[in-house]
Order: sequence, then C-alpha cells, then structure tokens
Amino acid sequence: MSGDQNRETIVWPEVLPQHVAIVMDGNGRWAQARSLPRHAGHREGVQSARVVTEACGRLGIKALTLFAFSSENWQRPASEVSLLMELFLRALQRETSRLVRNNIRLRLIGDRSRFSQRLQDEIAAAEELTAGNTGLQLTVAASYGGRWDLTQATAAIAREVQAGRLTPEEITPECINRYLSTADLPDPDLLIRTGGERRISNFLLWQFAYTEFYFTDVLWPDFRAPELAQAFADYARRQRRLGRTAEQVERLQRA
Ligand code: FPP
Repeated sequence: MSGDQNRETIVWPEVLPQHVAIVMDGNGRWAQARSLPRHAGHREGVQSARVVTEACGRLGIKALTLFAFSSENWQRPASEVSLLMELFLRALQRETSRLVRNNIRLRLIGDRSRFSQRLQDEIAAAEELTAGNTGLQLTVAASYGGRWDLTQATAAIAREVQAGRLTPEEITPECINRYLSTADLPDPDLLIRTGGERRISNFLLWQFAYTEFYFTDVLWPDFRAPELAQAFADYARRQRRLGRTAEQVERLQRA
C-alpha cells in the first residue's frame, strides 16, 4: 500500500476528470512475476481498487467506472472464474461498510443473471445500502461488454417502438443513452488502462466517443495513488476539443 502511505506528498493537478473509467489489467502477470498463483494478483488488485476508489472520492471526482469482469472473461478456466466470483463476493461483504462511511454509491452494470443467486443478492444489498450516498458514484462493470450493453439497449428500444411508445424519429443519441446501463452517468472524460495493452476490449464502446485514453505499462496491483496522480497530470495537459478547432477551444477557455 505504498501509494496510500505516500498520499500526503502527492501533488494532484487542478484540472481533474469528472468521470474516470479504468481497465484494471495485469493481475495475472503481477502474480506470475512473483511465482505466485494468479489469484494472489487478483487479491492485490482488490487493494488497488480500494486505494484508487478512495482517492477519487477524496478528490471530489463524480464517477469512477471499473472494468472488473468482461463478458469474455467467462471463457477463462472454470477454477479462475470461480475464484474471481468468490473474491467479488468477499470484497462486497467486506467493503460495503467502508463505502457507506466514505459516502460512495456503488452500482453494478452488466449481465448479472449469469452470477450465482448469492452474488446477485449481495450486489443488490450493497447497492441498496449505498443508494443514498451522494459522493463518488462507483460503477463496477462485471459480466459486462460494450456490445452486450448496446444490444440490450437496442432490444429495449425495439420493444418500445413495437408497443407504440416510441417512434423511430425519436431515436436520437440522447435516447440511446437513456437505454444504456450507464444512463445516469456522464460519458467518461478519461480511460486508464494498466498492464501495457493498448485496446479497449469491448468496454464502454458508445460512451468513449470523446474520452481521453491513458495507457500505462504499470500492472494493476502496482497502480496506486502516485500512479493515479500521474495519469491525472497527463490528462490535465491535454486539450479536449470535442470536435471543435484548437482556436475555438482557446477562445472558449479565455471567455
Ligand atoms: C485483469 O488481470 C483483471 C481481471 C480479469 C479482473 C479482476 C479484477 C480485480 C480482482 C480487481 C478488483 C476489482 C473489484 C471491483 C473488486 P488479468 O488476469 O487479465 O491479468 P493478466 O493480463 O496479467 O493475465
């Protein structure tokens, strides 16, 4: 937890993203490098998730979305999947009271019907317990895929049209947003991916339209507050044009 110990000396930039999304990659390699089983890396990854979540909460960031388990991750060996499920269950049981204390609201996005009933119940309980929290909105994407999300949104829209409650002309980008599982979140300003790969792996496909991407070779279990500060410093140096010209943006910033 070196990152957390050093946090008093960390300089955070003034410009911070409002919504941060993270692909937490590299747990397995972190463990392999230490001749440990993969689940040791996942366990250490949970510590990073806690440090990063609490840092975002303290900084007043509005939303953090963590990619914990993709639709494709179900294809991993059954033993790893069941260890991960056990880890999620225990993390929920252990961490929910900390979330409440830190005024963090937790929600899960993804196809939760694939989880055991016990895990589904634990998720629902954690969501309910934290529902009134007004600080950081923590979204855990689990059994999640961007294509799954777009598919379920499309099917829901089709049902509305079929029932005569929506016309095709009313299907605008804003309308599609309302049917995605991230409906009440702003689009992410910054995506961080640890672990050295430079791809989005079916994460928030629609929502990333104007997101800034930050890739780092640091493995997720090593990603703590100093590494987060570095990602935010990089973000603060970027100019977000959202389709405008650089001159237009500079004029808007001066106004
Ligand atoms: C990537 O490492 C991580 C995962 C597949 C998911 C597990 C994430 C955690 C346990 C972090 C904790 C999150 C929460 C919200 C409790 P990998 O196995 O793909 O690593 P590798 O690429 O090195 O094999």
